[in-house]
Amino acid sequence: MKIVFATGNSGKLREAREILGRGFELVTPAEMGITEDIPETGNTLSANSRQKAEYIRDRCGCDCFSDDSGLEVDILGGAPGVHTARYAGDDKDFDRNIDKLLDDMAIKEMEASMAAEMGLHIKPTGRKARFRCVVTLILDGEKHYFEGALEGRIARCRSGKGGFGYDPVFIPDEYPANTLSEITEEQKNAISHRGKALRAMSSWLATQGTTTGA
Ligand code: IMP
Repeated sequence: MKIVFATGNSGKLREAREILGRGFELVTPAEMGITEDIPETGNTLSANSRQKAEYIRDRCGCDCFSDDSGLEVDILGGAPGVHTARYAGDDKDFDRNIDKLLDDMAIKEMEASMAAEMGLHIKPTGRKARFRCVVTLILDGEKHYFEGALEGRIARCRSGKGGFGYDPVFIPDEYPANTLSEITEEQKNAISHRGKALRAMSSWLATQGTTTGA
């Protein structure tokens, strides 16, 4: 099945090609002549995911899907959430995003330990976090939604070279001794938020007779 993936993120594209397999030919917005940044101005992952898919559908009139993902960190009250890509600024710089995440968490941990010393009871959250992904598929003009989540915790410093984004500091529950940057792409795709959402989309398409499934 030939379909446009509404992303300019090469890491997401590489993973999606691997996850969806040979039944899918993924076309990028750039290959359709759409080179501007796809707008994402919603307040939720679902709203942004829908907005990105609708933008591509409006421009090229073809079947497409989008992925909006976010990182929720418990000690930060669920931040960066919908602001994950631009946490440290509009340039979406992965390195600065990670620096800000580690700094903000260190401040919150210090506040929590000071509060504990003062005898205040604060529910401990540790460094628990999760990635969430919402995929919007627009097929024959109809929208369909698929979701996935990956539970884990945030490391104290970067480790590993693989992956993209926050991978060097995200330790998935399934591999408690490694960050996502230290496991293989195959291992990451088998457990990831994006892997779960895209496999759900692929299975649903197979039930429609549109593809043979992932
Ligand atoms: P968006 O979905 O393009 O709005 O951006 C989500 C941001 O979350 C990306 O720019 C990455 O920084 C981060 N992100 C999403 N998925 C992953 C992942 O699998 N690993 C690491 N970072 C991710």
